[in-house]
Amino acid sequence: MADSQFIKVLKGEKTERPPVWFMRQAGRVLPSYLEMRKKYSFKELMRSPGLAAKVTLLPIYDLDVDAAILFSDILVIPEALGMELSFTDSGPRFAKALKDFDDPASQLKPDASKLHYIYDVIDEIQKTKPQNIPLIGFCGAPFTTLCYMVQGLGTNHTFPDAVTLLYKDKAMAHKLFSAITELSIEYALNQVKHGISAFQIFETHAGLIPSGLYFEMVMPYVRKISKAVMDAGTPVIFLPKGLGTGIKHIKPDDADFISIDWQTPIEEARELVHPNLGLQGNLDPRLLMGSKETILETLERYVPFGSKNHNWIFNLGHGFIPGIPYENAKLVVDWIKQTNWKRN
Ligand code: CP3
Repeated sequence: MADSQFIKVLKGEKTERPPVWFMRQAGRVLPSYLEMRKKYSFKELMRSPGLAAKVTLLPIYDLDVDAAILFSDILVIPEALGMELSFTDSGPRFAKALKDFDDPASQLKPDASKLHYIYDVIDEIQKTKPQNIPLIGFCGAPFTTLCYMVQGLGTNHTFPDAVTLLYKDKAMAHKLFSAITELSIEYALNQVKHGISAFQIFETHAGLIPSGLYFEMVMPYVRKISKAVMDAGTPVIFLPKGLGTGIKHIKPDDADFISIDWQTPIEEARELVHPNLGLQGNLDPRLLMGSKETILETLERYVPFGSKNHNWIFNLGHGFIPGIPYENAKLVVDWIKQTNWKRN
């Protein structure tokens, strides 16, 4: 089987064009997904191997992207650590928030078997996906996962109690990071065993804390997860959203590719990030609320960068948001595939 564009680029090979996929490509913008959500809750969709596999593959058929990402959520790790989770119309919510306990670590009851249904989902995807389409597995990075666990919900995106925990009780923060990391490694390696082609670590809320503090307190745990996955032969993409100039301190041991947010121009990110690390990104998803002309004009600005840089995966700076017209997402994929990238 010939490698897909996505796998070639992850391996460091030259291609005619950048591969393209989108964060949050399965839910939120696809009419076919929104139709399925009328019949099933998000939890029903992610827990049934047949349905989750179907949703995972929707963007392959509807958008023609180059890779599929497992349809699940980063909060399955806190759930398997014993925290009761529900998904409400205003986002995820835990029955109990760790901020309300004197000894939050004592609340955790790890049970790795609670993740087993996800391996059945992966098996079903492998059985039903087109052969040349790679499957991306993922987990949340320890800080973002901790944010939801401590705060208990995601409606307040500043997560004040999670951030202050890093200053008030470093020892407790380390205990919680260790518990998240240990289970995430087991989870990641099982995803590898079930045949994922790449693994992405989502640190959506890195920008809430100074990058120095991030490298001191969180990065050692990220490194443990990526090392385990990379040692198992699977490439790792790390998304440290909002890390700013901190991206220049990420080392090739920490990941294979870094996903860049929309704040940093991709050319500047290239200058900052270690040359042995590839880049992913970084279109502002909100641009896709704009006119076709505005979208195409912004896309054209990627051509000079893309003509020189083969180690680049086209993506958004963060995920799709509800309300983006499906046609605009498709326009981006078609444009990436039809553009002359002037590579040689
Ligand atoms: O394409 C995909 O959607 C892939 C699967 C996927 C989901 N969540 C499904 C989901 C992935 C990779 C995630 C990651 C995730 N989940 C992150 C990190 C990346 C990011 O986007 O920031 C975070 C922080 C979460 C936690 C989470 N789950 C939140 C904050 C929410 C509510 C807001 C939102 O983004 O919709 C969820 C719910 C969720 N996870 C939905 C989906 C499809 C929406 C469920 C619905 O259909 O109502």
